[in-house]
Amino acid sequence: MSKGINSLLQKKKKGERIVSLTAYDCPTARLEEDAGIDFILVGDSIAMAVFGEETTLTADMDVMIAHTRAVRRGAPGTLVIGDMPFGSYECSDPQAVMNAARFLSEGGADAVKLEGGNSRIVSRVRAIIDSGIPVMGHVGLLPQSIRRTGGYKVIYSDMKESLFREALALQEAGVFAMVIEGVEEKLAGQLTEELAVPTIGIGAGRFTDGQILVVSDMLGMSGAFRPKFLKVYANLGSEISRALSEYAEEVRGGLFPLEEHVYHAREDK
Ligand code: KIV
Repeated sequence: MSKGINSLLQKKKKGERIVSLTAYDCPTARLEEDAGIDFILVGDSIAMAVFGEETTLTADMDVMIAHTRAVRRGAPGTLVIGDMPFGSYECSDPQAVMNAARFLSEGGADAVKLEGGNSRIVSRVRAIIDSGIPVMGHVGLLPQSIRRTGGYKVIYSDMKESLFREALALQEAGVFAMVIEGVEEKLAGQLTEELAVPTIGIGAGRFTDGQILVVSDMLGMSGAFRPKFLKVYANLGSEISRALSEYAEEVRGGLFPLEEHVYHAREDK
């Protein structure tokens, strides 16, 4: 049984910082559970991190559900949140409820996340929560809206009014926590103080209640992608490259497999 959504609120109340990461597969989710990560987001960042796309816009429901299921298998005891992909909640409240329900019934998620806080999104959030599904909000830089906003633009204090209005409307609608992405540190800190629900920052500075990173970015598997907010904790990309080259060299040089790697007929044992 995974931890519930209330565990995040408890942490905020106790002043304990919330630690989260994305995951897209079972082995990574298992490692994250072993490391005691507080919640795992199966992000629509999968489109870029796993499928090599330019944006998150091409993630679709079937892909998200399959990967959520894999993450759930790897992390049965961790809060798992499915990220609703672009196009899965734009049309209507019933469409949003139907797709959110798939994350729980087919993917095994505990909750879903939606981007944005305008009146249309608030209506979707209310409808999903009304159907018994917990929702995490997401304000600030919204990667699913880059075609409208013209790119990945950090939110500064000139946008304070709309940022706070949307975040408060989401809280009022009943979200249990909120991602704050790409926001000037001071503003994200003020918003965190204003909100009763926990805030989870990415590129939002030090004063949010928790932090989230894309797991492949922080493990050094995203090549030259090094935004200012990212800290790379391991260089798995170069370690994997080294192992692949060594394998290729050994196979070509007749150094793999060796005697210790082969099966012989039973009588030879
Ligand atoms: O898709 C994702 O990985 C996200 C995080 C950046 C919060 O939404």
